Amino acid sequence: MAHNDAWRLRPNAPAVGTVLGPIDKIAIGAAKEYRFGLGRSAFSMFVVRDAAERPFAYLNLCPHFSLPLNHCRDQFVDNGHIRCLQHFAIFRVEDGHCIAGACEGRSLDAIPIDLSDLGVMTVGQPVSPALSQSIAITEKPSMQSDTVHRTIGVFPEMT
Ligand code: FES
Repeated sequence: MAHNDAWRLRPNAPAVGTVLGPIDKIAIGAAKEYRFGLGRSAFSMFVVRDAAERPFAYLNLCPHFSLPLNHCRDQFVDNGHIRCLQHFAIFRVEDGHCIAGACEGRSLDAIPIDLSDLGVMTVGQPVSPALSQSIAITEKPSMQSDTVHRTIGVFPEMT
């Protein structure tokens, strides 16, 4: 499945540069939900950290029935995997690929995030199709200072 930025067209989708907050607010092996807007049109995404402390961000919409994965806030990770609580599909943390359950072989929509050298996460730039393979980690200089930001993009597997 090719990566796309379709999530950016959803109501209340956060713009590039939207601050998500400090990464250390998310425990290793846990996740945090971020909501933008109110009610049924609210945009929901989550950031999950793997055992190596890396953050990965996804749209909170299961590819099975286009429902939110969680029932309670921040409830996304079970036994080292992302789990949809609607029908219990299981996804890999590092690329959002469904490895078991009702939507096996499909993937969550990845949301690129930037991580500043101070550990603050922001919504990243649109993804280049040329980079849509597994995980891309690049370093680039900040536009506003001489600090270095890591751009972390997570992309579903290409078929
Ligand atoms: S909606 Fe997620 S497994 Fe069915």
